[in-house]
Amino acid sequence: MMIVTQILTTEHQLILKVLNLLKKSREELENGRMISGLFYEKAMNFCSEFADQFHHFKEEFLLFGLLSYKKKGALDSVMGTLRYQHESCRHCIAKIRQALNKYEENDEMAITLLLESLAVYVSLLRRHIYLEDQIFFPMAEKALSIDEKKSLAEQFANEENRNDLKGSVFERNQIIADELVQMMKFR
Ligand SMILES: [Fe+2]
Ligand SMILES: [Fe+2]
Repeated sequence: MMIVTQILTTEHQLILKVLNLLKKSREELENGRMISGLFYEKAMNFCSEFADQFHHFKEEFLLFGLLSYKKKGALDSVMGTLRYQHESCRHCIAKIRQALNKYEENDEMAITLLLESLAVYVSLLRRHIYLEDQIFFPMAEKALSIDEKKSLAEQFANEENRNDLKGSVFERNQIIADELVQMMKFR
């Protein structure tokens, strides 16, 4: 039964889709072509809500929590790194949002700060997803019993309906990701 990490890996695919768009937008900016502030605002809403509050939350508070208890610290060092990366990503989102305040006025300092934080964000989160998919999740699959996986899968499903996230989190953010693809295509 691989359902737990499969859910997370499917979510990674959606996050990677948006990361690719952010990388593309950065290349445009590097070459003097402006991207609308609206694109970045929408993308940051996706990153905050889907990647951070929904996806990273499930990993840290449900999966890591259980693994830390179960493996009595054996996985703590790798989970510490993963947690640090989550935190750095949150930092980047905050910095990007801050840069966006002045970005649309063509403020060169805002563009500089945006480029800086975008580069870090995309790079860290891609490496993070690689680490989880290829190294950490296989370890987690081995460590958890079938019952624990079942219980985690149930808890994951409950997160879909968490009040502060307004429900149907995956579907809603899938639509947002598609809108972002369209925004990049037709500008
Ligand atoms: Fe993660
Ligand atoms: Fe993840």
